[in-house]
Amino acid sequence: MNPEHALKDFISACQARVETALDARLPAINKIPERLHQAMRYSTLEGGKRMRPLLIYATGHALDLPQDILDGPACAVEFIHVYSLIHDDLPAMDNDDLRRGKPTCHKAYDEATAILAGDGLQALAFHVLAGDPSIAVPAENRIGMIEALATASGSCGMVGGQAIDLDSVGKALDLPGLENMHIRKTGALIRASVRLAALAKPNLAKETADKLDHYAKCVGLAFQIQDDILDVESDTQTLGKTQGKDQENDKPTYPALLGLAGAKEKAADLHEQALASLSDFGEKAQYLRELSSFIVQRRS
Ligand code: IPE
Ligand code: IPE
Ligand code: MG
Ligand code: MG
Ligand code: MG
Repeated sequence: MNPEHALKDFISACQARVETALDARLPAINKIPERLHQAMRYSTLEGGKRMRPLLIYATGHALDLPQDILDGPACAVEFIHVYSLIHDDLPAMDNDDLRRGKPTCHKAYDEATAILAGDGLQALAFHVLAGDPSIAVPAENRIGMIEALATASGSCGMVGGQAIDLDSVGKALDLPGLENMHIRKTGALIRASVRLAALAKPNLAKETADKLDHYAKCVGLAFQIQDDILDVESDTQTLGKTQGKDQENDKPTYPALLGLAGAKEKAADLHEQALASLSDFGEKAQYLRELSSFIVQRRS
């Protein structure tokens, strides 16, 4: 089959799969408190590229894992991601009205509900990792997953990166400072996605885990660089979120520091490094290679 078609089919199948898995794990809309559960479902379902779940399933494919044991980790990471988006859009943070082509959570509901919906999703992520019966792995690996996601989400990971982002408004970060912020605010969760899939494979050789981790570190940074590029180059309709927000909010970004051409060069270089990390992996890692390419070429 044409590899491009194979990737497209893989992406659509995984997106459909994770949609069902998320729906099944979210509290029903008529469960009390109804408005909170409606807001959690509103922001999570029917939207988004599901990039982190895709990386989980693609890593699982590379490691010959059955997809069922990855549904829990895929949902957990997506719940954390959606919580981060809801909070990122709040007036106290980026103050955005549009997300995934719809009004942001605080616009569709209200600020307090949006804060609580994020909080609820964060707790749900760990509830799933700790107890979901589909995660049929040794207890030690399950605890490793909980620890990996907690570290990636917390004050030294995503939340820490968001704190640096807010603190950097209007300031000129240097390149190492900018890289550090991006690695935390976006890279950490992407890296955790690959790590969670690797933890679903008992007795995985450390060398293999390290190569996957290096791949994930590269694509995680490349993902946020491309997000910065699209904020400049794309349009609101295609993005499903307001274009030009970074400049409006005076955020330090790769295009601001290196120019668009420099930012694109950096993303392309990270893609090459990601491919190099997988050089010992065979055909089974092809989806991971193609997702890395997709990340730096995507238009939304
Ligand atoms: C947007 O993430 C925020 C970042 C961390 C860069 P995505 O581009 O993955 O957003 P969705 O999930 O597809 O909406
Ligand atoms: C967000 O970065 C990173 C998160 C942890 C959510 P951005 O603020 O650039 O994400 P968008 O552009 O609003 O999606
Ligand atoms: Mg932000
Ligand atoms: Mg934002
Ligand atoms: Mg952005």
